[in-house]
Amino acid sequence: MTSHLMPTYKRLPVSFERGQGAWLWDSNGNPYLDALTGIAVCGLGHAHPKITATIYEQAQKVLHTGNGFRVDHQEHLADRLTQLSGMDNAFFANSGAEVNETALKLCRLWGREKNIALPHVIVTDNAFHGRTLATLSASGSRIIQAGFEPLVQGFIRVPFNDINAIQTVLQSRHDVVAIMVEPILGNGGIKIPADDYLVELRKLCDQHDCLLILDEIQTGIGRTGKWFYYQHTPILPDVLTCAKTLGNGIPIGACLARGKAAHLFHAGQHGSTFGGNPFACAVALRVLQTIEEENLLPHIVKTGALLQQSLNETLSHHPAIKAIRGRGLMLGVELSAPCSHLLPIALKEGLLFNVTAENVIRLLPPYILNADEAAQIVTRLQKTIEQF
Ligand SMILES: Cc1ncc(COP(=O)(O)O)c(C=O)c1O
Repeated sequence: MTSHLMPTYKRLPVSFERGQGAWLWDSNGNPYLDALTGIAVCGLGHAHPKITATIYEQAQKVLHTGNGFRVDHQEHLADRLTQLSGMDNAFFANSGAEVNETALKLCRLWGREKNIALPHVIVTDNAFHGRTLATLSASGSRIIQAGFEPLVQGFIRVPFNDINAIQTVLQSRHDVVAIMVEPILGNGGIKIPADDYLVELRKLCDQHDCLLILDEIQTGIGRTGKWFYYQHTPILPDVLTCAKTLGNGIPIGACLARGKAAHLFHAGQHGSTFGGNPFACAVALRVLQTIEEENLLPHIVKTGALLQQSLNETLSHHPAIKAIRGRGLMLGVELSAPCSHLLPIALKEGLLFNVTAENVIRLLPPYILNADEAAQIVTRLQKTIEQF
């Protein structure tokens, strides 16, 4: 069949017709256990009845009115997200990349405030912040950047999880206005930094009057067992971005800011036609409410630990396995060589995951995963890896 789609993706030859909980069914009726959730999006699983009900109710009322008017649901969502995060205010857009753009625009304004003509942001190797020109320039992968030069200027790159490298930069330059990191590298291979990494970053930002920007687009909204990953530590960022599970499949992203970062924009400097529409905000509010009502954060911790333990017991002796790591329901199984060829094999085993950083099997199952489904992920993965 010829395709009229731009060839931007390598796609597996399967299309899903419906889903329920942690399961998807293809057009031939075959079931698949979804340990990927559209890359950390459907945290509440597929066709969650509460989310479906909100989608139906809100669609009958109003979908879109525009940001020239007050939007009640948007205000309520900002209230709820600031309560949950400890931040002061929020801007809503439709994707992760857009809210990271928002964060980067805040950095430019913070630079103006400090009378720095060419403000710079420290970013890390192997980071992934999105596919717009600024966010791909902030990302730390040549594959993502190649062909799109000239890149957006104003980024200084350091190795991930290396506080000394940042100290060295900050000692030698006076044009740094922010440090932007993913608390766990997601696309970069589920790399978890030292326990005190965020605390040390916070100290450096305070000492040098820089903004600490945390990209929690993958780690946020419960994925690691806290609403946000930094809540495993005593710190708060100045700017926080989240998206993905916030809408459980309805596109929405939020950039949250605090303190000196919270009042940098003035009216007319930033915006989005669809951003913060009543429909997406009503759904996001219901997602947050459902995570709370169903007490999913402790469930994520428990199920994530169970899954990681069982992956360790079953797979760690396999000669091809280099490491098994993760936090909550964000897990990586690192193999000794590139392993994308396992994806069609996993499909035959009825299991969905993806491969990132060439040799890391990334598991991002839904928060509603039960113990039996966690065990099935392990057995199906074991059968897949046997064919490595
Ligand atoms: C950490 C991180 N930042 C940014 C993005 C970009 O988000 P989006 O694809 O919604 O633009 C992603 C997406 O995978 C991500 O994982």
